[in-house]
Amino acid sequence: MYKIVEAAFLAQDIKKFVIEAPKIAVKRKAGQFVIVRIDERGERIPLTIADSDTGKGTITIIVQGVGKTTKQLNSLESGDAILDVVGPLGMASHIGNFGTTVSIGGGVGTAIAYPTAVALKEAGNYVITINGARSRDLVILEDEMKACSDEAYITTDDGSYGFHGFVTQKLQELIDEGKKLDFVLAIGPIPMMKAVAEVTRPYGIKTVVSLNPIMIDGTGMCGGCRVTVDNETKFACVDGPEFDAHLVDFKNLMDRNRMYQEYEKKALEKFEHECNITKQAIELEKSN
Ligand SMILES: Cc1cc2nc3c(=O)[nH]c(=O)nc-3n(C[C@H](O)[C@H](O)[C@H](O)COP(=O)(O)OP(=O)(O)OC[C@H]3O[C@@H](n4cnc5c(N)ncnc54)[C@H](O)[C@@H]3O)c2cc1C
Ligand code: FES
Repeated sequence: MYKIVEAAFLAQDIKKFVIEAPKIAVKRKAGQFVIVRIDERGERIPLTIADSDTGKGTITIIVQGVGKTTKQLNSLESGDAILDVVGPLGMASHIGNFGTTVSIGGGVGTAIAYPTAVALKEAGNYVITINGARSRDLVILEDEMKACSDEAYITTDDGSYGFHGFVTQKLQELIDEGKKLDFVLAIGPIPMMKAVAEVTRPYGIKTVVSLNPIMIDGTGMCGGCRVTVDNETKFACVDGPEFDAHLVDFKNLMDRNRMYQEYEKKALEKFEHECNITKQAIELEKSN
């Protein structure tokens, strides 16, 4: 069992967990992830290691509650435990001294982009970060991103904070100002990563995205995470999750991720129904 030593919401539906996992804390590198299973009946889901503390033997994960398992995970508190945490998995981010780099995170993608932004800074790059959210209340890791950036920008779709617009508009603005960008990393919803790839393509700026296909074992055995890159089949869990954005077949990724939508919807409805029954039972017990 893996004990949760800290749990706190960073924004609506986005929760940070610090978990005791000393062996993973020692080995993990920026860009790697763990596969988590909450209990014996639980589904296995991949989550990026946002941070670690080798002294305390802990890793940090940041989870957006989007479906059954992530919402169940986000109902756990400090003192609870998770049955399985397997990792570190996946290839570490390729870190070099590229020059001027831009790390772009959309929504919870900021948590995934964060460790790589830190590693790029440590490698001597001039680091620009663009942290996008739908609105001010959904902005996460603002201070952490600032601390590892030479220039840090927040964008919100509704203009409630920072730059009013999408991360791609801010990126285009930087290019139009004449900034020479050498490397862009974009992590977030698939349409956002595809849009970033289209902004940088005409300028030939090296651009990397972290892909999020369905993963089951995370070890290259099940084939669930097949993605098409440069017309070749790759397994995101062992060959990635980071790939050259200009070579990724995003349509294929979107189509594959939609395959289980009906099952996912049913699993969430069942989970929320069970939660309501439990709540009602607790309230009934209190009133007796
Ligand atoms: C390498 C990698 C790193 C990730 N890191 C993070 C992270 O740090 N924080 C975070 O909040 N999310 C992260 N995700 C996404 C996270 O794994 C999914 O949100 C989660 O699996 C959803 O499960 P669910 O049961 O709550 O939702 P569901 O309702 O089952 O699914 C919602 C959506 O999540 C995706 N999904 C569902 N099951 C899986 C699965 N087994 N593997 C991958 N995607 C799935 C699908 O696109 C699906 O449409 C990462 C995904 C990958 C591939
Ligand atoms: S998750 Fe099974 S092969 Fe990648």
